Amino acid sequence: MKIRVKVNGQLYESDVEPRTLLAYYLRDELKLTGTHIGCDTTSCGACTVLLDGKAVKSCTVFAVQADGREVLTVEGLEKDGEMHPLQKAFWEEHALQCGYCTPGMLMASYALLQENPAPTEEQIREGLSGNICRCTGYVNIVKAVKSAASKMATQESLEEVATSGTSTD
Ligand code: FES
Ligand code: FES
Repeated sequence: MKIRVKVNGQLYESDVEPRTLLAYYLRDELKLTGTHIGCDTTSCGACTVLLDGKAVKSCTVFAVQADGREVLTVEGLEKDGEMHPLQKAFWEEHALQCGYCTPGMLMASYALLQENPAPTEEQIREGLSGNICRCTGYVNIVKAVKSAASKMATQESLEEVATSGTSTD
């Protein structure tokens, strides 16, 4: 089946088998191997991506279901060579060890912060409850999401000040 899907801002047209899962389409066809597959059964969250802005486990979605829609993967988080604040915070707070769960954690955290830019620890834990990490014990992951949230808020207010400064000039 022919599909047209925008991934990280780029439009792809592909011919896929109806049974192809989105996770395999991203990894095998588009070579976006940042999306990991840990279980293939909707349990671990390593394959989490955003589909039209909502976090989904891409091992549970068929590639054909992404037809005409937009996908954001971990590769799409950085901008102009700059890591996303969440990526920086995961690094700074030592929120990973083996890193296998990290792309899914980042995407689930990204979706969480889109919905709730200032989550409490409990809300972060709830938001990431579909993602399993076998290494870190989650404490530093929660710290990283909190830290990214506050840096993003500061960044936003700086941008607002800059914009209002420009408009009054
Ligand atoms: S690989 Fe999709 S949830 Fe584990
Ligand atoms: S860092 Fe190893 S599974 Fe999370």
